[in-house]
Amino acid sequence: MNPNQSPAAKAPIGVFDSGVGGLSVLRELRRAMPGEDYLYLGDQINVPYGPRGLEEVRDLSEAIVRFLMAQQVKLIVIACNTASAAALKPLREAYPDFPFVGLEPALKPAVEHTETRVVGVLATPTTFEGPLYESVVERFAGDVTILKSTCPGLASEIEAGRWNGAEAERILREALEPMLPQGLDTVVLGCTHYPFAFETILKITGPGVRLIDPAPAIALRVQNVLTERGLLNPREADGAVRYLTSGEAAEMALRAEQLLGERGEATALRWQAGELRLAD
Ligand code: DGL
Repeated sequence: MNPNQSPAAKAPIGVFDSGVGGLSVLRELRRAMPGEDYLYLGDQINVPYGPRGLEEVRDLSEAIVRFLMAQQVKLIVIACNTASAAALKPLREAYPDFPFVGLEPALKPAVEHTETRVVGVLATPTTFEGPLYESVVERFAGDVTILKSTCPGLASEIEAGRWNGAEAERILREALEPMLPQGLDTVVLGCTHYPFAFETILKITGPGVRLIDPAPAIALRVQNVLTERGLLNPREADGAVRYLTSGEAAEMALRAEQLLGERGEATALRWQAGELRLAD
């Protein structure tokens, strides 16, 4: 064993989202670190988080984190922009020694790449509401024009398995068509559900527009944090993924299979007095 390695290296990585959106992050985590075990939690009974507001999403996220910590995860990826906007800061304050990796709309690479100096951001209302989004704009936007849209209903369409359906296309047309004449050449996917509608987005924007999915960069960040802390799992063989959902276990297993191309085992959880518990 590597002398810098912590005994916790063999523990799973916790990943959570309001539903299946975080699977777009899990996909990249597994590509980068196939030897890790993952515990993926989707709060599907409460999806979508987008319209709920910062306070409610913070409470839900904090309870999910308590549940994942009780499962002895070694790091938590908040694979949801909305939950990160609401809870990343308070969670870091509450658990200063525990590693959290959150998501924020990827304006930095967008601003670096745009030639027309017009960038679109698709994210939920709660993500745009938070100080995290404000700070991203302040840090990275510079003189670039940022156009925003909340895509109401899109996360729910994706939850229902209709990621490239007619309703998803209608929502995305409404979001993107007013942006296109303003010369936009880059779109930030600021919600982890949206990469699953990649094809529909490209169909609307045309191939000349670059779509930015932050998931590969997040996977790299997780890998770096684990390496720095001696927490990378040394295993050579592939690790396992276990899915947890506050919704229907069979549905989560099906979506994971459809979206990631492999069947996984899913377990149902229940909310009880503000805490998540294993369902009986
Ligand atoms: N996937 C989430 C995000 O990244 C939330 C979507 C939702 O539940 O509204 O923002």
